[in-house]
Amino acid sequence: MTADEQKKAAAIAALEYVKAGNKVGLGTGSTANHFITALAEKARGGFDVECVATSRASFQLASSLGLRMTTLEKQPHLDVTVDGADEFDGNYQLIKGGGGALLVEKIVATSSRYMVVIADQSKKVNALGKFPLPVEVVPFGVNATAWKIERALKLCDLKGKMQLRLKDGKPFVTDSGNAIIDVTIGHIPEPRRLDNLIKSIPGVVDHGLFIDICGIILMGTDDGVKTFRKG
Ligand code: 5RP
Repeated sequence: MTADEQKKAAAIAALEYVKAGNKVGLGTGSTANHFITALAEKARGGFDVECVATSRASFQLASSLGLRMTTLEKQPHLDVTVDGADEFDGNYQLIKGGGGALLVEKIVATSSRYMVVIADQSKKVNALGKFPLPVEVVPFGVNATAWKIERALKLCDLKGKMQLRLKDGKPFVTDSGNAIIDVTIGHIPEPRRLDNLIKSIPGVVDHGLFIDICGIILMGTDDGVKTFRKG
């Protein structure tokens, strides 16, 4: 099975976690796109759900496929969010934000009764950190914020390579109008500690560590979809 086939299999398996009448958070990225497509197909058969998208791209895809869309302002409590991830470890902690939607993804996931992560098997790691940690920052004083992130890493005995995310040669701009600094760390032994340290830096809006947010992971493998369930 290719990675994309594994993503699709996990996305289809996630349909089981959505009940008729649910308010559903839709993630962002290629795996989430498979889920949006599968959910839209089910909805066309009369399965009624109302959805909140985590990005303009997901909104466009979902609405073009006919899913009934709402906003978090109108529906602040969602039943379930289904989203992809860049990495997950054995403690259900995640790195997200490779697609640049981490801020809204975190707001939507934490407004849901539970978050289901769908992924191919390459996303499972023993320890988080191989994937560069995306940190969403306000554009003002971006270099000053970068060195404060470096200082926070030092407090955890870590070193990171900072890279301002670019798109077409220009700074990448998130849907919320912010920039992203990708921090290559290699290994994050204490994700919870780093979560708090980075989050407390002025200028940091949020970062891609999702700590204690996800409870179910569906991982596509060559032998079918494996389910990890917390507790
Ligand atoms: C977007 C994300 C995505 O979930 C993550 O990047 C995984 O993407 P893909 O499903 O394309 O592998 O966090 O901000």
